[in-house]
Amino acid sequence: MRLESLRETISAHESMKTRVGIVGAGPAGLLLSHLLHRAGIESVVLEARSREDIESAIRAGVLEQGTVDLLIETGVGERMQREGFVHHGIELRFGGCGHRIDLSGLTGGRAITVYAQHELIKDLVAARVDGGGEIVFGVSDVTVCDLDGDAPRIVFDHDGSSHELRCEFIAGCDGFHGVCRPAIPRALLSEHTRIYPYGWLGILASAPPSARELIYAYHDRGFALVSTRSPQIQRLYIQCDPVDPIENWPDARIWNELHARLATDDGWQLIEGPVLQKGIIPMRSFVAEPMRYGRLFLAGDAAHIVPPTGAKGLNLAVADVLVLSRALVDYYRSRDTNALDSYSEKCLRRVWRAEHFSWWMTSMLHQAPDEDAFYRRLQRSQLDYLVTSRAAATSLAENYVGLPLA
Ligand code: FAD
Ligand code: DHB
Repeated sequence: MRLESLRETISAHESMKTRVGIVGAGPAGLLLSHLLHRAGIESVVLEARSREDIESAIRAGVLEQGTVDLLIETGVGERMQREGFVHHGIELRFGGCGHRIDLSGLTGGRAITVYAQHELIKDLVAARVDGGGEIVFGVSDVTVCDLDGDAPRIVFDHDGSSHELRCEFIAGCDGFHGVCRPAIPRALLSEHTRIYPYGWLGILASAPPSARELIYAYHDRGFALVSTRSPQIQRLYIQCDPVDPIENWPDARIWNELHARLATDDGWQLIEGPVLQKGIIPMRSFVAEPMRYGRLFLAGDAAHIVPPTGAKGLNLAVADVLVLSRALVDYYRSRDTNALDSYSEKCLRRVWRAEHFSWWMTSMLHQAPDEDAFYRRLQRSQLDYLVTSRAAATSLAENYVGLPLA
């Protein structure tokens, strides 16, 4: 297998070479490597964690229509098409009533697909490994160097020794806590941050689905979200204090909150089941501009974070690497640098749209501890408008299913 021969190469030689060095095997790094491979451009992916770790971490679930189409077009959508769930609408629930937003009816037939991020990661890793791709798992002490010249390098430790990967470009796909963004001189980077005073407690439960479509619920006790993973496994979230220890949330308390926040006047029932996994995530909005420094290009969470209410994070990572892969293809075909030069600007237009949508959905649906009754009236007015105005619902729907990819 190529991965083994790469490992041999690494241990036999201190230094190796590739065209695009990719830091991070999340959705951004793996998909970029896949798209480049299809265009005949060689890359090496360096990942801090093990293959088992990245293939089991529970994260996102909602894929936009454009993401789905791209995965199918590029040959990695087969299992997603078989096992994912296409949803043509979502429910907004408030005041004891559910209101359906007809995503497909309002967007000319577009829809979302619910397919777990770690399943997509498995598909992308398998595609790279089958295609002779080079992914090095378990690297540490990664440093990106010489970014402003023509020959950037990545220095890292692997299997107890130090290595150097000489590249023509580096893609920083190493997530929010990675090393690539901090390698850009501070004076050249603008960072915009908003931290929310609440987080999400997410559970995976072994139970049949309680609803056919996702439910986003607004309630005095806080937000709740009903999602799914399979006919046997459900994904549910509740708003909580982001610094609350998970020990404060025994399963019975979680179910009580879910029942209270999702209650309707029409006898709808939430189906309970054993809790298989639970955890609390904080919520933030973050954008770093520009997304490029010299021969380093940031993509995905390395450059921007959204609160999860709009389901945009993974989809933005996909949009970034599509733009980057096309720009690199232009460069390798004709040494044309125009698309590389406009990479950051092009990505940031979509990023800021998604930032706004995610902030707006989040602000509309959560109880903010520092806000008063005036704010809650505004939230209810906005929700009422969404479910009574086709124009308002259309705006939500087109953002939620995703604006067309570049
Ligand atoms: P990551 O997935 O963070 O991948 C970065 C990779 O880089 C990791 O594997 C990490 O181990 C590796 N790495 C880090 N540092 C280094 C280093 N120094 N060297 C080498 N490797 C390194 N998004 C959606 O679109 N829809 C949703 O429904 C949704 N729901 C979410 C729910 C939850 C609970 C959470 C937490 C997130 C959700 N998101 C959602 C966001 C989505 O998961 C992220 O936006 C997405 O994972 C970003 O992909 P990425 O490849 O940019 O970064
Ligand atoms: C899921 C996550 C989200 O952030 C969201 O808005 C909808 C669904 C999920 O994990 O299924």
